[in-house]
Amino acid sequence: MELGWWLVMAVAVFGARALLTVPLIVWGLVLAVAALDPIGAQSNAVFQSRLSANSGDSDGAAAKDNFRPLAATVGRTDSTYVEGGITILDEHRPPITQNVPPPQRGPALRICVTGGAGFIGSHLVDKLMSMEEGHTVIVVDNLFTGSKENLAQWFGNPRFEFIRHDVTFPLNLEVDQIYHLACPASPVHYKWNPVKTLKTSFLGTMQMLGLAKRVKARFLLASTSEIYGDPLVHPQAESYWGNVNTLGVRSCYDEGKRAAETLTMDYHRQEGVEIRIARIFNTYGPRMSLSDGRVVSNFVGQAIRGEKLTVQGNGQQSRSFCYVSDMVDGLIKLMNTEGIDGPVNIGNPNEFSILELSAIIRDVVNKNVEIDFVPQTQDDPKQRQPDISRAKAWLGWEPKIQVAEGIKKMATDFRTRIRG
Ligand SMILES: NC(=O)c1ccc[n+]([C@@H]2O[C@H](COP(=O)([O-])OP(=O)(O)OC[C@H]3O[C@@H](n4cnc5c(N)ncnc54)[C@H](O)[C@@H]3O)[C@@H](O)[C@H]2O)c1
Repeated sequence: MELGWWLVMAVAVFGARALLTVPLIVWGLVLAVAALDPIGAQSNAVFQSRLSANSGDSDGAAAKDNFRPLAATVGRTDSTYVEGGITILDEHRPPITQNVPPPQRGPALRICVTGGAGFIGSHLVDKLMSMEEGHTVIVVDNLFTGSKENLAQWFGNPRFEFIRHDVTFPLNLEVDQIYHLACPASPVHYKWNPVKTLKTSFLGTMQMLGLAKRVKARFLLASTSEIYGDPLVHPQAESYWGNVNTLGVRSCYDEGKRAAETLTMDYHRQEGVEIRIARIFNTYGPRMSLSDGRVVSNFVGQAIRGEKLTVQGNGQQSRSFCYVSDMVDGLIKLMNTEGIDGPVNIGNPNEFSILELSAIIRDVVNKNVEIDFVPQTQDDPKQRQPDISRAKAWLGWEPKIQVAEGIKKMATDFRTRIRG
């Protein structure tokens, strides 16, 4: 029977007044139970806030509540504040105390380096730890391509901490600056699990931006020249939007970094996060992986082992190579220069064809090795050279180390690791 008929029959049997008292009695019972159980309300609110913090909504208000004293989270809803069973309207809500310390602006900072166990990250950590300001450095790395050996010199130092953590999951830290480098960077590694590469680029950047927003830290994204794809403009200035294949085998990296840049800018525009975007061009130096398929490490390793240098295609494709100490100086300058509001290319503009590079490496490392021409990989860009006018003007930065000098330093490290 329809609800209307039930109501008519109930009014006929009990009278209208009796019928109205039933919901009032039920409502009174609900209020009484809530007043007797403040702990339940409290644990539910805390549970809800943790749930949102762990669900990837790292910038949500609920995630922010993780930093507040327990009392501030008791029984909160969006429009009311419930205390001891009494509902207080928004305008009477007591001020929320945050237990995040105000950001420190030097001289000694708390600095997080994601991907700090990797090639560039570990050199960045060396530099930050050695600076006279006495910074504290927290490395966050899942050791996918990085290694604790790269940081061995810092374990045991009270200003250094290592956290083994995958950046695609939430993380709460109290820091002043975040250098976000965590991401596989060489084609061999990023093509190995392209879905994970995209997740690391996007979700990892989202988690770290959420953290930066919560603790008001300055955030630097390690982006890449790969966002220019196979460029139609040469050299590449920051104003160039790029020419990227969205479907190719390298797209997981290129498009992942492009999305990471977009997210970084949107956190800046929408949430007011202080951000820096470094478009890093090919970098080389000690601690590069011996077998990551990147051209400089390939050639140096092959030359030391006395193997043929494998040049892809006809070797006329060009690259420019930045020594790692120059790169680290550029990143630190970018992080600490005020008034930056756009991406900055960091790289060495000296351009070489791959064939020219192989000749330099033969000269410096082993004159007896021969060249072997092999097929070119899919979507390999033909030209890559940074326009660093912006880095010069905004940061007063330009690279200092010439390729032959850098290759010599790198070969010393490779010899030790290859020959033991
Ligand atoms: N080396 C270059 O020439 C170059 C050029 C352009 C951009 N970059 C960028 O610079 C950054 C560092 O590059 P690199 O050459 O040092 O590479 P690398 O592989 O040596 O270092 C990357 C680090 O990130 C860590 N990592 C990867 N996925 C992670 C995850 N999900 N959670 C936590 N840690 C994770 C790895 O373990 C490693 O320690 C990368 O973001 C890369 O895209 C490098």
